[in-house]
Amino acid sequence: MKFYILFGPPGAGKGTQASAMVEKYNLRHLSTGELLRKEIAEGTELGKKAKSLIDAGSLVPDEVVEGMIDNAFKSTKDVAGFLLDGFPRTIAQAEALDKMLAAGGEEVTAVVSIMIPDGMIKERIRHRASIEGRADDAKEETINNRIKTYHEKTEPLVDFYKKSGKYVEIDGTGTIEEVRSAIFNAM
Ligand code: AP5
Ligand code: MG
Repeated sequence: MKFYILFGPPGAGKGTQASAMVEKYNLRHLSTGELLRKEIAEGTELGKKAKSLIDAGSLVPDEVVEGMIDNAFKSTKDVAGFLLDGFPRTIAQAEALDKMLAAGGEEVTAVVSIMIPDGMIKERIRHRASIEGRADDAKEETINNRIKTYHEKTEPLVDFYKKSGKYVEIDGTGTIEEVRSAIFNAM
């Protein structure tokens, strides 16, 4: 099985690029952000607990997302692999993922990292806010905290994955089509 990680700051284009990637390589797209928004929309206990953290632009606890990913791995059949979008987001999550995969004799295939500068993150999120109405896109304060959280908790994963030789960085500042073809070349 293939286990690709789609990495990058908020608004980098992970969700945008995921659909073409899953189609081309027969992968299941697993976005922890989307899974959490579904829990919130359905009003589950997990959703209720996650909502205030997401609205503040903070991360939900590692165990929560690790459980969601583990369940999805176990319940998915008939795919060539997975495209993890927005997971892992902390070193602890990356280590938990390695353990989950090792238990089945698997490992991370590659980390595709889409990079854009902080200024562009805000532009992209403002643009999306005018179209999609995501709660965590609405307030400047939330967006700033998502960017801060990314730099503090998630960016250390770049070195983590560079050390394993699985890290490929893509310039995310071009058009959607340019970024897509750079990703396909890398994969
Ligand atoms: P999540 O949903 O993962 O949000 P995120 O990481 O902040 O990323 P986004 O979804 O905002 O950005 P994206 O890269 O998908 O960009 P998109 O393609 O939409 O997480 C939300 C929250 O859930 C977190 O803050 C946290 O609280 C919680 N959470 C999730 N996972 C967690 C985890 N593992 N651990 C703990 N907590 C977790 O593009 C953005 C916009 O730009 C769109 O409008 C798009 O059309 C446009 N665009 C895209 N590419 C281009 C381009 N090349 N040119 C011009 N426009 C473009
Ligand atoms: Mg997304």
